Amino acid sequence: MTDRTLTLFHLSDIHFGLEDRSALAWVERCIAHERPDAVAITGDLTMRARHREFDAACRWIRQLDVPVTVEVGNHDIPYANLYQRFFDPYRRFNAIEDLVEAELDLPRLAIIPLKTTTRAQWQRFPWSNGWVTDKALAETLAAIDAQPAGTRILVTAHHPLTERRERDNKLLTINGKKAMAGLAGRKVDAILTGHIHDPFDLIAQTPEGPLRMIGAGTLSKRIRSTPPSFNEIRITGASIEVTARNLEDVATRDMMLCGVSENALPENALPPRQPGEPVAPVGNVPAVDPPVS
Ligand SMILES: [Fe+2]
Ligand SMILES: [Fe+2]
Repeated sequence: MTDRTLTLFHLSDIHFGLEDRSALAWVERCIAHERPDAVAITGDLTMRARHREFDAACRWIRQLDVPVTVEVGNHDIPYANLYQRFFDPYRRFNAIEDLVEAELDLPRLAIIPLKTTTRAQWQRFPWSNGWVTDKALAETLAAIDAQPAGTRILVTAHHPLTERRERDNKLLTINGKKAMAGLAGRKVDAILTGHIHDPFDLIAQTPEGPLRMIGAGTLSKRIRSTPPSFNEIRITGASIEVTARNLEDVATRDMMLCGVSENALPENALPPRQPGEPVAPVGNVPAVDPPVS
């Protein structure tokens, strides 16, 4: 096992079309100066999968001069063009086709994709939340099984796998429970996701053992409870350390959600809305916060 610390920048939900330019400029600088071993982007590159949004996203990703792997988010498949949504949903990724679910060459570390974004869901409408189909799960588990012994495994997906919201039992990710148990049974080191727009780092219990779930915040203006951020993940031997880096200097523990659902707020979370305004306690989060996901 290598002793070298590997650094991964986990970015998510950039939502070109409503991207936060200053946050992106900052991330670009961080990447250029710190040269992480890889960048993993867990989906929602765009707002509405428009051509101009994809063009901007592809240009931005292409100029990052480090290995990149990208997942597809629910905002990245066409909304308006139903023909394309159903028959050719990933066509707009053409310019970065080689980066979508790209296999990266990292020492004793594999980043393995799990598809959670689907073009339709017969079980419900709308289709913004995830569905891990049996086929998608089988592909991911087979890819994990194909890794040489001793390889550390991080799985990347857009949607957190939590199947139901605790508060009201709302269905979040279809087949999430089964997927979580499957990954825990394979002893993966963590699953990295986006979609929630606030970061988290939690251990979920499954029938097959514990599963570490790491979520990245957003780099868009669609902030929810925390300022724009990305996760720095440092992997040394058996340890994985996560820092939720942000421009407001909010400590990681204050950035992190206490659970994976739309209502699990961090304790001290609201980003400053005006220059100079402090991060506000959670009780001050307005009833109508910017829309999520
Ligand atoms: Fe999303
Ligand atoms: Fe999103």
